[in-house]
Amino acid sequence: MGFERNTKPLIEADNICKDYVSGAGVVSALRGVSLAIGCGEFVAIMGPSGSGKSTLMNIFGLLDRPSKGRLIYAGRDVSDLDINARAAIRNAQIGFIFQSYNLLPRLTALENVELPLVYAGVRRPERMKRAREMLDAVGLADRQAHWPNQLSGGEQQRVSIARSMIANPALVLADEPTGALDSKTGEAVIRLLADLVASGVSVVVVTHDETVAAKADRIVRMADGAVLPHRPEIARESATRDSTPR
Ligand SMILES: Nc1ncnc2c1ncn2[C@@H]1O[C@H](COP(=O)(O)OP(=O)(O)OP(=O)(O)O)[C@@H](O)[C@H]1O
Ligand SMILES: [Mg+2]
Repeated sequence: MGFERNTKPLIEADNICKDYVSGAGVVSALRGVSLAIGCGEFVAIMGPSGSGKSTLMNIFGLLDRPSKGRLIYAGRDVSDLDINARAAIRNAQIGFIFQSYNLLPRLTALENVELPLVYAGVRRPERMKRAREMLDAVGLADRQAHWPNQLSGGEQQRVSIARSMIANPALVLADEPTGALDSKTGEAVIRLLADLVASGVSVVVVTHDETVAAKADRIVRMADGAVLPHRPEIARESATRDSTPR
């Protein structure tokens, strides 16, 4: 499934290492990760806590830089770009969905969804129009004026999905988007991600949930800062371990 449309990579990690240096010493969070995500591909990343999943997502999202190795985005080496150049690509091309939704509490649902267009310099009437369409697309047309604390967890996550889609990203990165949701609400969120993929967006989702991962074109398993070689029988065993509640 999905192989035909995955011919061209959108992102390629080439032997990426990431060391975090602090007073407590050095943590090698990524130890030589090589991985390509195709255009329009839906990839799930699984692995135990601390295996480097969020670290890799931060690098894919140009929020952080590798200590070693290269990141190629749409054919261009972006490993050494400065903070402004990375922000420009991020704002134009990448949407983020987090486990904790990350909505701004003092903005309404509609204003939260508009935010990426504020950064993109789009004028207010156009922003509002598109934000309404996005809220409508995630089934929240009647919640535009609600504050985040007036929304359920599943509704807040749908607002954050609407926000991640509004600037027509090429890539959406979702770090445990269903982690705080019940399974039924989680399924609705995953269906929205699948819709994004169907419209040609590349989606990378970090999840501990095997049923969520099963919806992806491909499952990538990590352990100790590395991508495990693809071996179905071993993958199945480690998936059982991953799905135990943390
Ligand atoms: N800013 C940081 N400074 C120092 N160490 C860090 C930092 N961020 C992460 N780490 C360490 O890097 C390793 C990988 O962390 P990461 O957050 O990528 O794991 P993860 O796979 O996302 O785990 P989880 O499933 O718990 O979210 C961990 O050992 C963590 O303690
Ligand atoms: Mg994480």
